[in-house]
Parts: sequence; C-alpha cells; structure tokens
Amino acid sequence: MNVYDSDRMADVLAPIGYVVTDKPDNADMIIINTCHIREQASEKLFSELGRLQNIKSKRCDTGKATVIAVAGCVAQAAGAEILKRAPYVDIVLGPQTYHRLPKMVAYATRLGEKKINKSLLDIEFPEKTKFDFLPNVTAKGSSAFLSIQEGCDKFCAFCVVPYTRGAEYSRSVDDIIFEAKSLASEGVKELTLLGQNVNAYHGKKTKGHTGNEVGLGYLIRSLSGVDGIERLRYMTSHPLDMDDDLISAHGEVASLMPFLHLPVQSGSDRILNRMNRRHKVADYHRIIDKLLMQRPELKFSSDFIVGFPGENDQDFENTLKLVREIKFLQSYSFKYSSRPGTPGALMDKQVPEHIKGERLSVLQDLLTQHQTAFNQESVGEIMPILFDRRGRKTNQIVGRSPFMQPVHVKASNEYFGQIVDVSLLTATSNSLSGEIFLNDKLSQNLDNLSFNAERNCV
Ligand code: 5AD
Ligand code: SF4
Repeated sequence: MNVYDSDRMADVLAPIGYVVTDKPDNADMIIINTCHIREQASEKLFSELGRLQNIKSKRCDTGKATVIAVAGCVAQAAGAEILKRAPYVDIVLGPQTYHRLPKMVAYATRLGEKKINKSLLDIEFPEKTKFDFLPNVTAKGSSAFLSIQEGCDKFCAFCVVPYTRGAEYSRSVDDIIFEAKSLASEGVKELTLLGQNVNAYHGKKTKGHTGNEVGLGYLIRSLSGVDGIERLRYMTSHPLDMDDDLISAHGEVASLMPFLHLPVQSGSDRILNRMNRRHKVADYHRIIDKLLMQRPELKFSSDFIVGFPGENDQDFENTLKLVREIKFLQSYSFKYSSRPGTPGALMDKQVPEHIKGERLSVLQDLLTQHQTAFNQESVGEIMPILFDRRGRKTNQIVGRSPFMQPVHVKASNEYFGQIVDVSLLTATSNSLSGEIFLNDKLSQNLDNLSFNAERNCV
C-alpha cells in the first residue's frame, strides 16, 4: 500500500513540476512515507530524518532549499511529536490527505524552511476521500497496484491499522474499472488489488449512487472483462470476509491467479481469540478446503505473529501444526511488537524477547522448507511468466510465475513486459531459473517449416 501511495504522491506533484529522483542530495523535496505497523518500522523514521537534516543543511549552505515531508502512518499517529523532535521537517501528512500535498508544498516554500506552522500538519480523515481528487494514475511497468479499499474495522488486538488508516472505505466499481482501463492502455497486464482488508470490499457500482453495494467477487468478475488485463491478484484478506461469492470467483475467473495471501496469524484458537481475530483454526481450514474445491491448484501464503501475549509452547506448536498441514508457499512472519494504543499492549503475559526470537527462527525454518520444496517441485514445469524487472546480470530479466515465484531468465529485451512460457530448470529457496519455452517451440516449428519447404521444392 505504501508503494502505491508513494507513486500517487509523485502523480499529484508532477503537475507542479516535481519529478522522481533517487538521489536525495539533489532533491528539492524529500518525502519519507512511513509504516507504523511494528516498532522497528517507526523507529527507522527518526534515524533517517537525522540523515536528511544533514542533507538539508548542506544544501542550505549552497543557497538551495529542501522541503522535508513525512507521510504515512507514523505521521498519522505521531505527527505533533515528529514536528517537536525534528523541527526541520516542513510537512507532516497522513495517508488520507496526500492529495493536498501541492497546496502544502506551496505553503511550506512560501513560509521559508525555518518556520513551522500548525497548518503544515495535516492528519485529518476528510469527509471527501482523496480518491475524489487524485489525478489519473500513470503506469510504472507491466504489473501495477490498484487501491480499491482502505482502512479496517476489524480491530485485531495487535494492530494499529484501524487507528492510523481509519474506518473501512471502498471505492466504487466504475472508479476502479476506469483506473484499470487506464493502466491497461499503458501496457499493464497484471493488477494487484490492494486494501488493508481487501476482501471486506463493499463498493457501489457507480460513484455517488445510492444503489446496493457489491463485494470483491463482483468486482473481480467485472475487472476480468477489462481488455489487456491478463492477471488479477488481491491482498490482504481476512478469513472472516472470504464469502462464498468471492470463493466461487476463484473457480470462475481464469485471470485470477492461483495464489492467495490469506493471513491466519496463529494456529492456536486460544491466541486467535486473544487477538480478537473472530475465527478459529477450523474455520481457516474450512475456507481453504472450499477454495481448493473451486481451484485445486490454488496455493496460499500467510502472515504469522509469534509471541503474542499469552502464547505458550503448546500454542506455538499448534501454529507449526497448521503450517505443516497447509504448506504455505511463502509467508511473512514477525515477532509480536507491542504498539501503544492497541489492546495487546495492555495485556498480561507478555512474552520475553528471547522466546519470541527462538520461536520465530523455528517457524521461519519450517516455512522455508515448504517454500524450497515447492520451488523444487516446479522444476521441469512450463509456466507463464510475466517479466517486469531487469536482473542484476547482463541480459537477465526477472518475472513472476502465477504463484508469485521470482523467475530469472537470460533473454533479450523483447520479452520484457510480456507474459511468456518458460521451462523451469533450477530452483533455490527463493527463486527459479529457466529458459524461454517459446524459443524451443518456435525453432521446432521453423525447422518443420523449412523441411516442408524443401520437400515442396523437390
Ligand atoms: N506486531 C507484529 N506483527 C504485526 N502485524 C501487524 N501488527 C503487528 C504487531 N503489532 C503483522 C500481521 C499483519 C502484517 C501486515 O503485519 O501479521 O498481517
Ligand atoms: Fe490489522 Fe488486518 Fe486485523 Fe485489520 S484485519 S486490524 S489490518 S491485522
């Protein structure tokens, strides 16, 4: 979501003359887009700001001003503190107000970099959403994010999202289709629909109309009709919102990729209950079984938190049991990080750091085993790969399989941005390598052709 938001900030600043650079020393403005989900992520902000202060003062000596902005969820949660701890920051804005950036920049540059004015802290949740004001998106490659839903009403006991991103909000279907078509016209082939709780999507068919709301299943079916979009994905989902209509979309819509990120967080009912997840392990299994009935090749990934307050050895064993049963393809796993303001932070039986660390490494070893095994099983197969990155080696391009596995191939540039069949030849725990299958087929066909031509001549 932050990648999407950062791109959109670049989009709103383009009309007033800003272009993206990767060299902060030359930048007239530097925006740090922050994440508040775990303590480590928030703490990074202040060390990064110290570095930027040096850049700002060096540029100042040569007569150049630098606007420093802090955006995202840390800004939302700790805006005033940021201005106090780092008074050289010019703009602080939350995730819901970045469409106002151009105005804020104009204001900040007019005031001069030394003055801090209260109005440069904008962490409102405005009545009219930013989506009503944002300019058309510009595609950055053949795979794009499309934000369809924001915020969350679930209030899991560990999570800051409902506080920093606010209440659930869904964009209308026509708005989303418009953005999808515009991305497709710029060469995008794969869309990943984004939302903090994406399968809670409940949008109107048309913006502003009073008609019934529709769910994610309906939206996916509608998007599957957009010319040029060959792959659809969505993340991140909550098991409670995996309704039957969405599940059946997995069987009906061929362009919906056979890989689903469905976080379970823990394999212990006791801990799920303390986490306020409002589902049990058996519910999770039931959902997975239903999905597999629709699409047998479907594979899953998950998020896990170890060391949530009260988690004992048996609870952790239950998580390992669930992992062994489902065999997730790839997952994200974290030590529980206490977040101020969330119910988890006030709970008794906080787990010591060293135990969290031990559990995390056991869990990650197991997840890596499954990930490696699946990559190895894929060797020998031919899969369609969407090439959307250049590799580190010369003539290397990198793409994604339907299951999100990174695939490296030595191939010419003509395949960049395309979906091409690849024979998978070798695997590591993180990725695969292969060669373009089309070449074999093509050269075989060409051989046949020339053979026939010869016979014709005779
Ligand atoms: N501590 C550790 N992990 C967390 N996550 C969310 N909040 C916390 C926290 N306080 C993880 C969850 C979520 C993912 C985005 O981040 O696993 O699914
Ligand atoms: Fe956070 Fe996801 Fe739970 Fe919402 S559903 S509170 S975003 S973990």
